Amino acid sequence: MPAQLIDGNLLSQQLRAEVGKRAAALTAQGKQPGLVVILVGENPASQVYVRNKVKACEAHGLYSALEKYDADLSEEDLLARIDALNRNPKIHGILVQLPLPPHIDAHKVIEEIDADKDVDGFHVSNAGLLMTGQPLFRPCTPYGVMKMLESIDYPVRGANAVIVGASNIVGKPQAMLLLQAGATVTICNSKTRDLGAHTRNADILVVATGKRNIVTADMVKPGAVVIDVGMNRDDEGKLCGDVDFANVKQVAGYISPVPGGVGPMTITMLLVNTIEAAERS
Ligand code: GUN
Repeated sequence: MPAQLIDGNLLSQQLRAEVGKRAAALTAQGKQPGLVVILVGENPASQVYVRNKVKACEAHGLYSALEKYDADLSEEDLLARIDALNRNPKIHGILVQLPLPPHIDAHKVIEEIDADKDVDGFHVSNAGLLMTGQPLFRPCTPYGVMKMLESIDYPVRGANAVIVGASNIVGKPQAMLLLQAGATVTICNSKTRDLGAHTRNADILVVATGKRNIVTADMVKPGAVVIDVGMNRDDEGKLCGDVDFANVKQVAGYISPVPGGVGPMTITMLLVNTIEAAERS
């Protein structure tokens, strides 16, 4: 029997209805949640992501502004802009879209964001809070994946979770969230020998590498939950994930599609984090 789909669009719709109510309640108290998204340069994928983030805010009653800067913006000017936003009481969330141009130190930029406005959850202080089990903001993509597991009532406690990809944005925070939910967690990276030996052991398999078809059907345990965080283009230019979807869905118990899986959930959790930042402010 083919896997059941985990529909990120449908789950997002349900969660965003709640977001809209919380935003309206805050606005009624004179505290409309506000997010500024900063994009430096013209990375085409980033342009689509930031536009979708801002549109989703506007559709659910949050204030949102997209600030676009040329690729030659200096690090100093970017830090100064973040400093101004840190001081602006109407702005509860600041997101600097990654990647940044190579002349800008992304770590320095992220550390400049007020940790209380770091709706991405990337600041070292938020990464530390997450690691020690007291999260302030959960990074949006891994947070969305946890909501997807919740939506199918998956018993994460005691499950073997394998994450393919060890980025600060997805793999590492995903590992922390799954660990705290009681899973036994393995993080694989680009140097992992015999990736399949690890992935075949996974009850929950989260794939976030940016490499198309890195996970094939023979690498998946029958009945496993497969969550595909990848966002790639196939030979015809169509969006696809990191998982060989057509074949893996014949083996897995549950699978998230690309598009329509993790993507909308990432944006939904950004809205949730911005609301939480406003509620705490
Ligand atoms: N680039 C890819 N994913 C993300 C994300 O979740 N946040 C930011 N700021 N940049 C990204």
